[in-house]
Amino acid sequence: MKLKKHKPKLFTFKTKNLSPFTKKKILNLKKIHYKFSLNSQKKWFKENVNDNDIHIVLMVDKNVIGYNLLHENKCLIESKKKKVLNTIFIFDTLIINKNFRNMGLSKILMEKSNKIINAKKKLSILVCYKNLIMFYKKFDWRILTKKKLKYNHLSKDKFSMFYGKNLKLNNIKKITIL
Ligand SMILES: CC(C)(COP(=O)(O)OP(=O)(O)OC[C@H]1O[C@@H](n2cnc3c(N)ncnc32)[C@H](O)[C@@H]1OP(=O)(O)O)[C@@H](O)C(=O)NCCC(=O)NCCS
Repeated sequence: MKLKKHKPKLFTFKTKNLSPFTKKKILNLKKIHYKFSLNSQKKWFKENVNDNDIHIVLMVDKNVIGYNLLHENKCLIESKKKKVLNTIFIFDTLIINKNFRNMGLSKILMEKSNKIINAKKKLSILVCYKNLIMFYKKFDWRILTKKKLKYNHLSKDKFSMFYGKNLKLNNIKKITIL
């Protein structure tokens, strides 16, 4: 695929502004990697995605070729002195269409996500397998030790990482994703 001819365009949408057409294209892209049927993808979307979540979408000629979701979630942040109820971005579902990988396109999604996280002065957390840690480190994400995070998606075989320039993690004892 020649990228000069088919230049990818980047869009961000809140869920409430996502057209049914784009949503369908996103679910079809996710289906290829996550191996769930379109119906179970739809169900997951309905049950988990909130109106204010941010969808970062890379399109070529009306096709979604890259996608990432910033999902807003309540969390409890405990420091030595206090417990604060806050909101956090769960960095979810980063995917590039197989035909467009190794072209540097994930960088566009990662940089946009990081920019939004900083602009909103939020902390963001992701869960990934070991083989992706180096990838996320390239974009300034850092490992979050397991004892500092309570999150039901963090299984034994996975790792958690965080990003967010406006939050000092040193003072934090524990983050519980609610
Ligand atoms: C992970 C993924 C998004 C990377 O997208 P990509 O477009 O192929 O990556 P890029 O070409 O933009 O690579 C950007 C940089 O990351 C590096 N990189 C890519 N995949 C990597 C990996 N698995 N581990 C370490 N570095 C990696 C590239 O070498 C490149 O580095 P450089 O800028 O120094 O040259 C893509 O492989 C994908 O969609 N995988 C399936 C879904 C998935 O596993 N998502 C993560 C869920 S946690």
